[in-house]
Amino acid sequence: MKHLLKMLDLSGEEIIDILNLADQLKYELKHNIPHPHLKGKTLGMIFQKASTRTRVSFETGMYQLGGYPLFLSSSDLQIGRGEPVQDTARVLSRYLDGIMIRTFEQKEVEDLAEYGSIPIINGLTDFSHPCQVLADLMTVREFKGTFEGLKMCYIGDGNNMANSLITGFLKVGMTVSAACPENYRPDEKVMEFANSTGRFTITDKPLEAAADADVLITDVWASMGQEGEAEIRKAAFKGYQINDEIMAVANDKAMVLHCLPAHREEEITTKVFEEHAEEIFEEAENRLHAQKAVMVKLMAD
Ligand code: CP
Ligand code: NVA
Repeated sequence: MKHLLKMLDLSGEEIIDILNLADQLKYELKHNIPHPHLKGKTLGMIFQKASTRTRVSFETGMYQLGGYPLFLSSSDLQIGRGEPVQDTARVLSRYLDGIMIRTFEQKEVEDLAEYGSIPIINGLTDFSHPCQVLADLMTVREFKGTFEGLKMCYIGDGNNMANSLITGFLKVGMTVSAACPENYRPDEKVMEFANSTGRFTITDKPLEAAADADVLITDVWASMGQEGEAEIRKAAFKGYQINDEIMAVANDKAMVLHCLPAHREEEITTKVFEEHAEEIFEEAENRLHAQKAVMVKLMAD
């Protein structure tokens, strides 16, 4: 593994490997066992979109690993004034040991990896959010003890989270169902992979998808960059909500996850959100541990 660009690139074994290391790093942190695997290393973090969790967890994670994180807002970089990503990649590769980037187009992340010579980590694009899904998988394994025989149901927009969740949960062997409106389905490449597993179903009926689910996940109806479509989307996604009706058809001990930020009473009710807050905030914490594992795998000597 040279980069973390998208969930589709990872094998099931690579995912499990990262999760095992993430569990170990979480244990070490909780027991005050130093783990300076990246002593003296630097990580550049380029943000073209807002962030709370991704920024703070990468920044803190890098400190805990003995390294140094640099926050690089794209509006302050020459990239924000049109310097090509190919040149930015070649320059930054000469200063840094790794780059995490949050941007719009997946191609920008792929280009950084192609033209640079250091590990690139995708901190969210319109296509993929692999760091989030590694944390989600870590949380499921922590609460359920296994992936075997479990079903994950995703309800909502076929966006970056849907693309990565469907791919990641299928890769660890789980069954996956999705409920998305007809015009808001996941990416074609994701659908192709998902259909090839024989463990994936998609429908426009949330209740049908949620039947017997062990893990229910949703995400905002309008992602970053889609603010202008918010009203159209509110109408399109009406009914695509995790609520008591959905929970009633899922398995008794079903977990609920949300990458956050959450829009209460849109994709999830306040009641269900608060009833599952323990899982949701453990999931947020696990961003830290999962990303530290990714950085160690990619950047340690
Ligand atoms: N879930 C997530 O990526 O959160 P931020 O946008 O706050 O980084
Ligand atoms: N789909 C959301 C995820 C935020 C973490 C977005 O892209 O805005």
